[in-house]
Amino acid sequence: MQIQHVFVAGSGLMGSGIAYAIITGPKLPVTLYDVSDEVLNASKQKTEALLDKMVGKGVMSKEEAFEALGRLSFSTELSAAAKADLVIEAIPEKLALKQDFFRQIDEFCAPDTIFASNTSSLPITSLAAVTRRADRFIGMHFFSPVHLMKLLELIRGLETSESTFTTVKTFGESLGKQVIVANDFPGFITTRIGMVLLNEAMFALMEGVGSAEDIDTGMKLGFNHPMGPLALADAVGLDVCLNAMNTMFEGFGDQRYRPCPLLKRLVQAGHLGKKTGRGFYTYNK
Ligand SMILES: NC(=O)c1ccc[n+]([C@@H]2O[C@H](COP(=O)([O-])OP(=O)(O)OC[C@H]3O[C@@H](n4cnc5c(N)ncnc54)[C@H](O)[C@@H]3O)[C@@H](O)[C@H]2O)c1
Repeated sequence: MQIQHVFVAGSGLMGSGIAYAIITGPKLPVTLYDVSDEVLNASKQKTEALLDKMVGKGVMSKEEAFEALGRLSFSTELSAAAKADLVIEAIPEKLALKQDFFRQIDEFCAPDTIFASNTSSLPITSLAAVTRRADRFIGMHFFSPVHLMKLLELIRGLETSESTFTTVKTFGESLGKQVIVANDFPGFITTRIGMVLLNEAMFALMEGVGSAEDIDTGMKLGFNHPMGPLALADAVGLDVCLNAMNTMFEGFGDQRYRPCPLLKRLVQAGHLGKKTGRGFYTYNK
């Protein structure tokens, strides 16, 4: 099976980035879906700004940017997924919300449409189970910013078929991504290892081991990380980090995944990192 039209649900940081990668990479049409026109307009503006930036950098011509934008359509209707071969979900990291989405969209799509979730940590098998296509369901974990990050982590659910896996791997590679494969354990490969590091940096800050700047500089210069863990947590979104830690804590029942209380406090205060202008650092919005 060849993917020819993609429906991306959720036009936030990840959904917009995934849509951009598809309209500029394999140059396929994408329908971007979200809960309101207002959110979709904000996403459209961000996409236009990114295309302009790429034109400015000489990565693409003005005509190519114009054509890419022409491949992108926007909708607040689930019925717009009827023509899609692949649905990629990138809505907030809440199991019940995602299950509800997949339960509904299952009704609108052709039987052979493949469903993928960009979840960072939720069980793919639990999402697949609410649909009538558990064999055509897979985890497609992209990284932010999607147009720059090379990695795509594919997660096989308990019933993901070999043909689904092959189709999605080929599609992922057409986006210029390097694919790694994980089985369906909480946090898969990357979130499991990466989030524990971020969470530990938060504990070090909370306990007064060092300042945010020194913790980040320590990991950048001492371990050659391109970005410090606290700055990275702000970029990912502190709500996303907390949800991932909670999922792993529940999934494994192991203390090493307990979310740092400082992370919980910042999320309770609405300080979600870069996207709200404040997290471990402050940003100009
Ligand atoms: N932020 C990251 O770096 C990152 C990296 C990899 C994976 N993820 C995962 O991607 C998913 C999305 O994360 P994000 O950072 O893009 O979040 P975000 O908050 O930036 O965007 C979520 C979008 O979903 C929309 N939405 C909410 N409910 C919806 C619904 N019922 N139907 C359709 N749209 C709905 C929101 O309006 C918003 O535009 C999460 O599962 C997250 O764990 C995030």
